[in-house]
Amino acid sequence: MVKADRHLRFGWWSLLVFLSLGLTLESLHGFKVGWYLDVGNEVRRLMFTLAHAHGTLLALVNIAAGLTARNVDGFELRPSVSFALIWAAILLPAGFFLGGIVIYDGDPGLGVWLVPVGALLLFYGVVRVALDLSNLR
Ligand code: HEM
Repeated sequence: MVKADRHLRFGWWSLLVFLSLGLTLESLHGFKVGWYLDVGNEVRRLMFTLAHAHGTLLALVNIAAGLTARNVDGFELRPSVSFALIWAAILLPAGFFLGGIVIYDGDPGLGVWLVPVGALLLFYGVVRVALDLSNLR
């Protein structure tokens, strides 16, 4: 139950952070900021959009994990799954975001290497939850 609360708390705060990033992107459009919108900077725009979209959706995944742990009898989030789902929701969007801050000739910056690490954590967490739910009865 305590772990479920942690995912719900993390998920709702994280949702707020990444919706705010969406609002920031909206403002960059509104003020026609070239650093974000110029054709030569399209990788930055792609990276920031991906950070916003993945951060938002992974926040919702954490809320879903918290609700699943609360509502399914006999199911608990393992510590490793809890770790994986929270760190995936941090590293994946952070990687996209950092990859967009400094770009090299159409390539994202080195921060983008955090993305595959976050993706592996996410796969582990999701597979483990699916297996644990299937093995309940
Ligand atoms: C659950 C809520 C949300 C989800 C799942 C979500 C998801 C997404 C996705 C998937 C994209 C990429 C669309 C594409 O490029 O085809 C996107 C783009 C965008 N979102 Fe959100 N979004 C959410 C909320 C918001 C909010 C609240 C704002 C601002 C107030 C916002 C602002 C933007 C902007 C400005 C873009 C375009 C960025 C660009 O192309 O430069 N989003 N969002």
